Amino acid sequence: MTAATVHVDLPGRAYDIEIAPGLLEKAGAFLAPRGGRKHICIVTDQNVADLHLEALQAGLTAAGLTSEALALPPGEATKCWAELERTVEWLLAQKVERGDIVVAFGGGVIGDLAGFAAAVLRRGVRFVQIPTSLLAQVDSSVGGKTGINSPMGKNLIGAFHQPSLVLADTALLGTLTPRDFLAGYGEVVKYGLLGDADFFDWLEQNGPALAAGDMDARVQAVTRSCQMKADIVQRDETEQGDRALLNLGHTFCHALEAATGYSDRLLHGEGVAIGCALAFELSARLRLCSQEDPSRVRAHLRAMGMKVDIADIPGDLPDADALLGLMSQDKKVLDGKLRFILARGIGEAFITSDVPSEAVLSVLEDALAGR
Ligand code: GLY
Repeated sequence: MTAATVHVDLPGRAYDIEIAPGLLEKAGAFLAPRGGRKHICIVTDQNVADLHLEALQAGLTAAGLTSEALALPPGEATKCWAELERTVEWLLAQKVERGDIVVAFGGGVIGDLAGFAAAVLRRGVRFVQIPTSLLAQVDSSVGGKTGINSPMGKNLIGAFHQPSLVLADTALLGTLTPRDFLAGYGEVVKYGLLGDADFFDWLEQNGPALAAGDMDARVQAVTRSCQMKADIVQRDETEQGDRALLNLGHTFCHALEAATGYSDRLLHGEGVAIGCALAFELSARLRLCSQEDPSRVRAHLRAMGMKVDIADIPGDLPDADALLGLMSQDKKVLDGKLRFILARGIGEAFITSDVPSEAVLSVLEDALAGR
């Protein structure tokens, strides 16, 4: 598979996700027919700008579009009020109008922040996601969650604002560090684990080639992930139900991210992979799935050279009680009850608030003890 289109069919807000190598060069051909001024405002970060901005701007120029870019500092700390204000004021200074298109060009941080800026600017302007990381291509650029962090927690300030197009240029994945690529792969594995056992089988077979750069395998993995996300978002755009399935592994992950200070001791996708392994371990202990399932999950993550266990996180961590306390601050808490995504098997995840905290504690205690 060398190219694919996934359609997100939301009433009045439908859009396509284009997946292929070489889309940057064609970006102007995708954007020009959409109307608005022939001047495109790009929000990006300095790392992505250094690597890819010239190619994107050349792709826009080829279709008769001019462009201007704002390059923000790279990193999670950029998802804050100050950078949001700077972005919104810059877009206003660029005279962005209602019918114009703002481009979010970067990983999850830029997609979330630029998307939120587009959501609040003039009560909502169109935006196009051009995700550059694997994590952004398979997850954060799709589905319309936008926002910034608060000192009280991650993603606590935001809005649902769907992009009008997503261009996932899989050639860009070649410039990611192996660590960043594998962190994004944690989210890819999540899709197989939550709802598609055949896709997980396929990843077991093709994951190593995909990581080594096989472009057809990359396009196929991004496409299947986006299809699954599109299906879920179509059923439940604002996370009243099924969309929470996408949070498989995230309750554990968010506690581990908080415990490591959202630093590069643990990247989000690494936390998701460890969290998925823990969610399957918890499911097996509650006799919801067989003990072979967590073993298989861990074996695949290990074979890919990923972080699998809490013990793989460098540095000290708080004890199991403290980690459980951090979970209770997660925004997935409902009426004071922790919501978990557990599984009856690979590809069979479900949402439950009915998890005894002793079971979670014992999984965490054993994980911290390296068992
Ligand atoms: N990343 C989870 C979601 O979009 O719902």
